[in-house]
Amino acid sequence: MTMILTDLPTAIQRSDFASDFLWGVSTSAYQIEGAAAEDGRVPSIWDTFSETPGKIRDGATGAVACDHYHRWEEDLDLAQSMGLNSYRFSISWPRIFNGVDAEPNAKGLEFYSKLVDGMLARGLQPWCTLYHWDLPQYLEDRGGWADRATVDAYLHYVDVMSKHLGGRVQHWITHNEPWCTAMHGNWDGMHAPGNKSLPLALQVCHNVLVSHGLAVPLIRANVPGAKVGIALSLHPVQAASDSLADQQAVVRHDVLRNRWFLDALYGRGYPELALQLVGQDAPTVLPGDMEAIAAPMDFLGVNYYFPEVVRHAPDQYPLRTSIVYPQDRQRTDFGWEVSPQGLIDLLERVARDYPTGDLYVTENGSSYDDHLTADGAVNDTARRDYLIRHLAAMRDAIGAGGNIKGYFAWSLLDNFEWAEGYLRRFGLTYIDYPTQRRILKQSGQWYSAFLRQA
Ligand code: NOJ
Repeated sequence: MTMILTDLPTAIQRSDFASDFLWGVSTSAYQIEGAAAEDGRVPSIWDTFSETPGKIRDGATGAVACDHYHRWEEDLDLAQSMGLNSYRFSISWPRIFNGVDAEPNAKGLEFYSKLVDGMLARGLQPWCTLYHWDLPQYLEDRGGWADRATVDAYLHYVDVMSKHLGGRVQHWITHNEPWCTAMHGNWDGMHAPGNKSLPLALQVCHNVLVSHGLAVPLIRANVPGAKVGIALSLHPVQAASDSLADQQAVVRHDVLRNRWFLDALYGRGYPELALQLVGQDAPTVLPGDMEAIAAPMDFLGVNYYFPEVVRHAPDQYPLRTSIVYPQDRQRTDFGWEVSPQGLIDLLERVARDYPTGDLYVTENGSSYDDHLTADGAVNDTARRDYLIRHLAAMRDAIGAGGNIKGYFAWSLLDNFEWAEGYLRRFGLTYIDYPTQRRILKQSGQWYSAFLRQA
């Protein structure tokens, strides 16, 4: 089904939202920076993984990516020119520490210092993500996130970065999408480091959550007035049919996909049902861990892309569910369902079931196979429509009482889409990789026009 313009809530305008609403874009270090071996940066697990034949669909790596490390001024100019008032970025840990006992790398510190100053100079509120999947390889080599020593290394890194940038950055996201770090990295093996073990993935997941919880008070101690949260990839879960078996599959799928994180972060521990399902594959939990994970946060970041539709699948350990892709749904070129209603359902559910306080949509976006026309334009009408519909959904969720304070589109630029390499474009800006030219797409122009309305 193609989207037709007459369906669009064209009446949506910036004034439908609070005047202090945050309008941003999200990016992440490995996906855009490039300069992989410059100024003392050492390899991360994503360098290793992407250099391993067969792991990335187009065989690419993030070694050059969008060359943002050299073009960051142009990129921040672009963000400013779009009328944004905030910018979410991540720090590349292997730029900061190049070994277990190393001193912080001055060049790495300087880069993020310049970047943050550049944001402030352009009226962009910096939102700093401390971990967006690029673990230093030397830490993976001694056990990675499954080893508690990595939690200590992370806390040291967080301590250094929050002291370094704390006078200028108030908003801190400890981790981006711990589900992906743990499960894609260690269960299905689609992401770095590429392990395939459920117990390992669950231990990684637990240790990442502990590292989050311990980082919260640390950042608060270093940054007066800090606002600290986490960005979770959450999915509304829907049943493939009305059958009781499929309805029960929804409950089981949701308990690991969403509630595992939300329940733990909001002080309820891991859900009993999830622990039953994973049985002896459950992680080792040390005394005090669950209390640490539940450190009160200032906000929750929600990364929303699509609902997951599941059916009962008795042979699938541990959840006995499998994801299905109904034919009749509208999809992006990546195959992800387009469901603005899913955003409403998700935001309402999270706010209803958990004491989240402020909510931010820290990522939302769509991938289409864009083309540069002969006259140098990218007419990504479908992405523009996706954006309009999701902003309208967010407006409706706020109208229904949702405490949503900001929206960060994924992403400012086309970039390295992990296992998909450069084959998937999510940007509001097109990157012509051979020339590194940036071309604001129709979607980016629409966002900009929307933001520039009085
Ligand atoms: C989630 C991740 O945070 C981001 O890195 C990724 O590119 C987008 N979603 C799109 O898959």
